[in-house]
Amino acid sequence: MAPDLGEQRAPLTVDWSALWRDLVEHAAQVAPERSAGDYWEGRAEGFHDRVQARDGQPDSIRDFVFHAVRPGSTVLDIGAGTGAWAIPLAGRAERVTAVDSSASMISVLRRNIAAQDVSNIDIAAGSWPEVSVAAHDYCLAAHSVYGSPDLVAFVEKMTEVARRTCFLVVRAPAAASVMAEAAGHLWGLPLDRPGFMVAYNVLLQLGLTPNVLFADRASDPVCSATLEDAVARLKQHFGLATSAEHDDYLLDLLQRRLEHHDGSYQWPPESRSALISWRPE
Ligand SMILES: C[S@@+](CC[C@H](N)C(=O)[O-])C[C@H]1O[C@@H](n2cnc3c(N)ncnc32)[C@H](O)[C@@H]1O
Repeated sequence: MAPDLGEQRAPLTVDWSALWRDLVEHAAQVAPERSAGDYWEGRAEGFHDRVQARDGQPDSIRDFVFHAVRPGSTVLDIGAGTGAWAIPLAGRAERVTAVDSSASMISVLRRNIAAQDVSNIDIAAGSWPEVSVAAHDYCLAAHSVYGSPDLVAFVEKMTEVARRTCFLVVRAPAAASVMAEAAGHLWGLPLDRPGFMVAYNVLLQLGLTPNVLFADRASDPVCSATLEDAVARLKQHFGLATSAEHDDYLLDLLQRRLEHHDGSYQWPPESRSALISWRPE
């Protein structure tokens, strides 16, 4: 006879929004410059160059969103950056509002809008969810949520201003990534950064019914020339550059998890992007 799992199963007690906050706060401790002042000052041009280098590569998430946005509609792009989404979406929608909290990103965005001769993008300088905006048909936030500790407020405001669909694009790290394993040891957390798994569960706990699309392509594989380089990468990621306290553990972890071939150390696949979309009920 099948066991009665209902009796034995532990109640689901994970507080996903608290875990999200913890991960954002740990990341902020590792890189305090990200939350102080305009992090993108001196970096916005480099970001734009990296975005341009990816232009034209297959992107199933982008294709899905562009297909979903109906001509004649309005789109709100939260954390628009240099316009990677806002500018092409302006060719499909009637109007786009680009929200961003970084003056440096907005200045590159303005230049890109002018260079493309686009006339239907409005810019709203400010931080989500505090910034005030009107309702739009679609609401998109692509890789702009990682610094926001209150994911519930972020998502609830998206849901409030969208008439048709909300799109949240986030990285989806492999649950068994080296970074996640190290986070378990160093921080007692199951993950190293906020991302898909936590965001998706927060949405479920909010009573939303999110759909998911994973990007076809994973992030480019990472290779380290030496084990010392690999240790340095891990230490940088966890803000341990000046401490030797965990070196033995980190070296052991890397010897176990990296594959050594052709003279270098190959990291297992780490991350891909995921699109979470939902309709405001
Ligand atoms: C990694 S960039 C992504 C830009 C763009 N969405 C893309 O996919 O190319 C993140 C952008 O979000 C902005 N950002 C981060 N948190 C934000 C917030 N709470 N409100 C508004 N903008 C935010 C940053 O200033 C930056 O321009």
